[in-house]
Amino acid sequence: MTKDKPSSRPSLAVFPGSFDPITNGHLDIVERGLHVFDRVRTAILINPEKKPLFSIDERVKLIRDTYADEPRVEIDTFSGLLVDYAEKVGATVIIRGIRAISDFEFEFQMALMNRRLNPAIETVFMMPAESYSYVSSRLVKEVFQLGGRVSDLVPPVVERRLCEVYGSPIPPDPASGSRGKP
Ligand code: PNS
Repeated sequence: MTKDKPSSRPSLAVFPGSFDPITNGHLDIVERGLHVFDRVRTAILINPEKKPLFSIDERVKLIRDTYADEPRVEIDTFSGLLVDYAEKVGATVIIRGIRAISDFEFEFQMALMNRRLNPAIETVFMMPAESYSYVSSRLVKEVFQLGGRVSDLVPPVVERRLCEVYGSPIPPDPASGSRGKP
């Protein structure tokens, strides 16, 4: 047992992803992360091989606007190995969301590979609310593009940006802050 050790908890966790765009499922995970860690840093992977809808700068802005009133949520981008990035910024924890069993296999492989690459960094899996278990950035884009409603699935700033990108009528500014209700 480590009874002589002063109790401490990792203060910074990295929440990596593509965030193209950030959804309410991501927000739910960030919220849960803030219950356990002092700060959660959303880290957007710069991946030249992917063709995202939103540029890196746009994705950063969408997250920044979403968390304009939450200083404990940080936003950054990274390229290269995730564990190298986490080490560089002083994070010992990586947060990943698991929505369903189908997510698990890939996430498990990634967590074990990351552990092999850097055993000092722990992956923590968090489950979003069941209501987000089917929400993904890919489906949100597809549904919106085909005329479906995504208001409850993404923060208002993202919905507005989707409207601009796809030339749909822009919904009125929400009276209640910048964050969607997770
Ligand atoms: O939102 P996503 O697309 O599921 O996020 C995937 C991400 C960014 C977490 C993953 O692709 C990643 O960490 N890439 C960085 C490169 C890396 O470290 N690869 C080895 C992981 S085992």
